Amino acid sequence: MSNKPRILVARAIFPDIVDLLRQHFEVEDNPDDILWNPAELAARLADKDGAFTTGSQRIDAALMAAAPRLRVVANMAVGYNNFDVEAMSAAGVQGTNAPDVLTETTADFGFALLMATARRITESEHYLRAGRWTEWRYDLFAGADIHGSTLGIIGMGRIGQGIARRGAHGFGMQVLYHNRSRLAPELEARCKARYLGKQELLRTADHVVLVLPYTPEARHLIAAAELALMKPTATLVNIARGGIVDDAALAAALRERRIAAAGLDVFEGEPRVHPDLLTLPNVVLTPHIASSTVPTRRAMARLAADNLIAFFDGRGPLTPVNTPQARAAAARSSQGLE
Ligand code: DGY
Repeated sequence: MSNKPRILVARAIFPDIVDLLRQHFEVEDNPDDILWNPAELAARLADKDGAFTTGSQRIDAALMAAAPRLRVVANMAVGYNNFDVEAMSAAGVQGTNAPDVLTETTADFGFALLMATARRITESEHYLRAGRWTEWRYDLFAGADIHGSTLGIIGMGRIGQGIARRGAHGFGMQVLYHNRSRLAPELEARCKARYLGKQELLRTADHVVLVLPYTPEARHLIAAAELALMKPTATLVNIARGGIVDDAALAAALRERRIAAAGLDVFEGEPRVHPDLLTLPNVVLTPHIASSTVPTRRAMARLAADNLIAFFDGRGPLTPVNTPQARAAAARSSQGLE
């Protein structure tokens, strides 16, 4: 039997990336892309040293208890709210994510969704396809301007900064941002962005884009009270994570035209979508595809694979998200688990 580390690739990914992993590891993959439930995932991880995951696998204490050999989990996503990072660190399990390689692609998409929402592109396309377009009309799908308007970004990490640069330099927008901490003055200058409190930003912006990571504190950061602060002409775009917006409150605000429109790439409890959102014309809905271009998804998969390779060949993880407790790792080793 080979003494290569054993890894699980939990979802279907590019076949050549699986081939690369096979050069280094004993690989169990999932070419049929079956969505394993937590018990099935735990059973498959019971004899594995590492895992390649996407945002759809929850890595928590119960799963790690069922996977005593597990040392590293590489997420093919920049976000890692599917990881219980504290439990992973306590259990001596290294987590990694896939940052940077998706920044510009995701910022492009944030802007595309903003444009589609403010300019009512999908709503007007549905109208045309339904054969309802019979003549030119002065106010046909009249939307909101992007150029020269005020863009408010909540979450000013790398992707937020990418959206800010596009807005400020490409479209002459005034850019406001809110973030856990202020950017360094040179970064603010590069993005031409001004820091504002969340409430003030919501009151002032014509377009609000959410790009912050999901944390328990971020749950329902935008709910009825926050939506009430926004202009009736404003648009809201969420490319961050479902659950940051209270989708039921958003659907009510859109139905009552308390805000003009929303563009959503992520949803509470996705892939389920709040049924009220599906009935509204003034919301653009996309299935969590902000980073989905062929080159970027390849780069994300390659980075996750490289994290596993670097971890097991002793170079250490390339993009770690935690510092596992050495004691826990040592305990696993002394129990003959490594
Ligand atoms: C990420 O990288 O976090 C994306 O949401 C997954 O595509």
